[in-house]
Amino acid sequence: MGILTSTVALLAIPGASAQLNQLAKAAGKLYFGSATDNGELSDTAYVNILKDSNMFGQITPGNGQKWQYTEPSQGSFSYTSGDQIVDFAKANDQIVRCHTLVWYSQLPSWGADGSWSTSQLTSIINTHIANEVGHYKGQCYSWDVVNEALNEDGTYRDSVFYKVLGDSYIPIAFKAADAADPDAKLYYNDYNIEGAGAKQQAAAKIVKLVKDAGARIDGVGMQAHLIVGSVPSQSDLESAMESYLSAGVIELAYTELDIRFNSLPASDSGLQQQAGDYETVTKACLAVDACVGITIWDYTDKYSWIPSVFNGAGAALLWDENFSEKPAYSTVSSVLQAAATGAAGVTSTAKSTVQASTTPATSAKPTASSGDCAISQWGQCGGEGFTGCTACASGYTCSYSNDYYSQCL
Ligand SMILES: *[C@@H]1O[C@H](CO)[C@@H](O)[C@H](O)[C@H]1NC(C)=O
Repeated sequence: MGILTSTVALLAIPGASAQLNQLAKAAGKLYFGSATDNGELSDTAYVNILKDSNMFGQITPGNGQKWQYTEPSQGSFSYTSGDQIVDFAKANDQIVRCHTLVWYSQLPSWGADGSWSTSQLTSIINTHIANEVGHYKGQCYSWDVVNEALNEDGTYRDSVFYKVLGDSYIPIAFKAADAADPDAKLYYNDYNIEGAGAKQQAAAKIVKLVKDAGARIDGVGMQAHLIVGSVPSQSDLESAMESYLSAGVIELAYTELDIRFNSLPASDSGLQQQAGDYETVTKACLAVDACVGITIWDYTDKYSWIPSVFNGAGAALLWDENFSEKPAYSTVSSVLQAAATGAAGVTSTAKSTVQASTTPATSAKPTASSGDCAISQWGQCGGEGFTGCTACASGYTCSYSNDYYSQCL
């Protein structure tokens, strides 16, 4: 918990030219970070900013750890893309938010189209997570274990996972991730859960669902893909964070922040509005101790995902397409600097003081059974922390892969 307490007094206050991660840390946060992607790493001008750990203390792989890349055919794993980003971060003394394990999108066709039985899909999830989290064990500050399980009205998305397993796929995924890397923080991650609403309430229920199932969930990741002029108020942002802490997580993060214009080009006054919107989000994170950091979803408009997904929209980030810092950059920097020096402007507007709760609940785990069960080929059947069935279906043997993972082969 030490990382969540304010360390302002212990750190030298960076000077006026200090950069975002330095300032965020001096203000008591764990990091200021950016997502990146493999194709961009050949752009020298881009890399020169990204690799500076004073600017970005944390990196998120935008795509390389997604299921379509890591298990393109069943039981066959590839970590080339993910490793490139993780190795980049390591080489530059940056921590990694690993992203993401169970998501309805960017699934390989074999997984998305399968008409699986409940036991088959449970085994597929367990195998995928055990392999991927096992591969990155010790290298991820956190994992986005389940991504975007909710519709806008707070009901569950009709993904292959939900169709076959109902909401039980969520605790199944968290248990598998916990077993494979007990030290990584485990997050539920979604968008449009930053302010009040049906989806925010449903995200808080997911926290309870996972905990009630006896699984570990440490954090809620608020993606924060926002729109200029339509950002929730600071107090609404803080209230949503408070709802997740009340539901039982111990930390929070803005994990994919960008604030887009719906039409371009942006005017000067629009850029000022965008700066104010970034200020609101930054101040909300600063005001809540449990908010460990902010990650922007890439740092330059040159490599933003927005124009390819939202027609005509863009200019959502802190640097423009030519790597010039925008007004929003200066504002975020000033707000962090003010917090680092204890100046005005970073007080909570929430009614009550938000504090990280004590320790995560350690519910009793069910004991392993080998009675009536039978794990199919590729499924997990053992490993440290594993509490499921340990018997393989006829014709398969439970084979040791590593201390955290045995599978039926
Ligand atoms: C980036 O540079 C190009 C070439 O000089 C210019 O046409 C463009 O307007 C610049 N973009 C911004 C946002 O200033």
